[in-house]
Amino acid sequence: MTRYLLVSRSAEYESRLRRMLRAHFQAVPAEYLTFGQRQVVDRVRGNPRIALLGPLLSFDESKSLIEGLTSKYPGIGVIVVREQRADLEDWVDGMEIHAVLSPEASEATTQELLVRLDDWLTATGRRPDEPMPDDDDHGGASAVLLALGDGDGPAPTAASTNLESLLASNGAEGEAEPEPEPEPEPEPEPEPEPVEEWVLPPIAQTVRTEVIVVAAPKGGQGKTTTAINLAAGLAEVHPNSVVLVDADVQFGDIANALELNPTYSLSDVARVGNDEVALKALFAHHADDFFVLAAPPSPELAEDVDDELLGALIDRLATMFRYVIVDTTPGLGEHTLAAIEHATDGVFVTNMTVPSLRALRKEFEILVQLDMVPANRHVILNFAERHTGLLQKDAQAILGNPIDVVIPRSTGVVLASNEGVPLIHHDVRDSAAKAMRSMIQRIEPSATPTRKRIHRKARNHEPE
Ligand SMILES: Nc1ncnc2c1ncn2[C@@H]1O[C@H](COP(=O)(O)OP(=O)(O)OP(=O)(O)O)[C@@H](O)[C@H]1O
Ligand SMILES: [Mg+2]
Repeated sequence: MTRYLLVSRSAEYESRLRRMLRAHFQAVPAEYLTFGQRQVVDRVRGNPRIALLGPLLSFDESKSLIEGLTSKYPGIGVIVVREQRADLEDWVDGMEIHAVLSPEASEATTQELLVRLDDWLTATGRRPDEPMPDDDDHGGASAVLLALGDGDGPAPTAASTNLESLLASNGAEGEAEPEPEPEPEPEPEPEPEPVEEWVLPPIAQTVRTEVIVVAAPKGGQGKTTTAINLAAGLAEVHPNSVVLVDADVQFGDIANALELNPTYSLSDVARVGNDEVALKALFAHHADDFFVLAAPPSPELAEDVDDELLGALIDRLATMFRYVIVDTTPGLGEHTLAAIEHATDGVFVTNMTVPSLRALRKEFEILVQLDMVPANRHVILNFAERHTGLLQKDAQAILGNPIDVVIPRSTGVVLASNEGVPLIHHDVRDSAAKAMRSMIQRIEPSATPTRKRIHRKARNHEPE
């Protein structure tokens, strides 16, 4: 029976919770929320007693999910998993939350919170598998218990004090005796999860590459590095006919990485509407002959860019440029899904660790279910190193798909990024630069490195 349900965008948090809660646990990726909360609620199995929502769910997503879950599972306990922020009280006031849990909370704190909420649900007759008591005092309003840290976290807010007293008063009134805790059964040692055989459906038909989306389920895998180098490499063959869009709308850093100071960004797109000249004026030009449409300069401005706008923009840019390259935020958020929906090519980046490979496989599974796998796809294994205990064939078995390009870990990547120069134009002999070049040549076989193409900044560093 599913006792705990998690709806989250963090594969890492999910695997932590899975280890903690084992068989009683079901996770539904929050990516399904893009198509409405019912897509998540319909995927829930059994009769969950407690739902954990987060991390990385918005206020509106959490609210609609809570509405969907409580109408299907009356009495379900709801824990929001997020950091304490200034707006926490708005969350507490705005929806029926029973507890808030920090994603950083230790296993002991998390378990303690689950047990306390479980007891409280029992004491107040809210358990979904038990009849509600006649006393309707307990209907509706929820109280909030905070488990934000492990002792040294921020002081509890008024909201937490409410729950503390509510829990205390429930005990004191003795209206409903909490069930005695059953003797905990000794937990068996976790066995390594076997990798189920799964194969990403083969590419049915190749289409002409026009829009390339670079994606990864986890952060820091090398998406931005790949996107920048694709732009620089493809612009060698099609100068000034490549645009690089930074659709990591909240934390995009392409302008920074390339030492550009754009006046405009994605948040200005809605303002210019269909005017092509005005749209072109939003791009920054890079010395390597490509254009950049930067991410909004601050995370609040990201609200000006919705997924529909991004999708329409990509289609528009595809009519104006030979190649549109889109860098994305980790995971399958609404912007990334919109970009993938409008892409001819998906470049999927992972490192060589099992959690990242599993997360990418899950991303593939979701895209297959949604029928949204881009027509052409390229899998990059970045930060490749020997002696990690994992072989390329193991990685391929986890992914159910061949790895197309292996990029070794190299200090050259960091040196190039520190100088604001695309790696392929910084040091052509660098092992990661050579691998990146082979990625570019999958799309443009004529993009061979020539001295003329080496970035002028890099040339300036060379002795005369
Ligand atoms: N092959 C590599 N060898 C060494 N360092 C690398 C390699 N690839 C990327 N890096 C470095 O790793 C860091 C993360 O790379 P990058 O910013 O491209 O990842 P990302 O997936 O875009 O991250 P985010 O999810 O934060 O947007 C950067 O500092 C980059 O220079
Ligand atoms: Mg990035």
